[in-house]
Amino acid sequence: MKQENQLPLRGILRPRFLVRVLAHTCSFLIGVAFQAYIARVSRVDTNIGGSEHSRRSFEDKTTFDPCTTGIARGVPTFKLREDLGIILEAEGLHIGAELGVQHAYFSKTLLSAWVSNREYHLVDVWAKQENYVDVANKGQSEQDEIYAAAMENVKPWKSNIHVCRNFTTNCVHNYEDDHFDFIYVDARHDFKGVLQDMQLWWPKLKQVGGARLCEDLG
Ligand SMILES: C[S@@+](CC[C@H](N)C(=O)[O-])C[C@H]1O[C@@H](n2cnc3c(N)ncnc32)[C@H](O)[C@@H]1O
Repeated sequence: MKQENQLPLRGILRPRFLVRVLAHTCSFLIGVAFQAYIARVSRVDTNIGGSEHSRRSFEDKTTFDPCTTGIARGVPTFKLREDLGIILEAEGLHIGAELGVQHAYFSKTLLSAWVSNREYHLVDVWAKQENYVDVANKGQSEQDEIYAAAMENVKPWKSNIHVCRNFTTNCVHNYEDDHFDFIYVDARHDFKGVLQDMQLWWPKLKQVGGARLCEDLG
């Protein structure tokens, strides 16, 4: 029952209105914080490379930030991986590898913009893996179809394309150290797999001016 002396709350004083304002403010602040975090992560992950840094082991990255030392040349910050081809082109880089290729959708986008690419190495097992939970871990017949689609997608660049259809941990032994300008790590997505790929492939990146791009580092 309403008390005699209790006045109804109107306009901006209504609790529902105040809750809405609070919710909008919170989501705005979370959005700003998230964008700042993304900007920081992309700046760090796209600026690792360079002579002194590359001679150190990957673990040293925690104590050695090439972005602040100025040793690495680095590449400009970017938001979308679709912009990477233009950046690699502008940086005058020529040799790349993609670990985890699937349909080669990204390879196609990248190579369309990276016109002075000379070698692009596709590394993927294109096979059903036991004990590995991932949406990309399809059955073998589907993997064979995906492989065929990938080859079709990169056909326009076939003179540059080199394929290693095996585990990243096996393919890595096919390459000399300091070979690549750019390595994109996008194969296994669990922590151990990503770390292992980064450790094994790190020496394959050129000591001077190499760029490494990582996806799904969350
Ligand atoms: C997310 S998909 C790659 C998508 C691709 N980079 C793109 O953006 O279009 C991951 C691929 O990695 C492959 N893969 C997963 N673990 C692997 C491993 N240990 N060695 C080689 N390939 C692996 C899978 O077969 C799958 O095709």
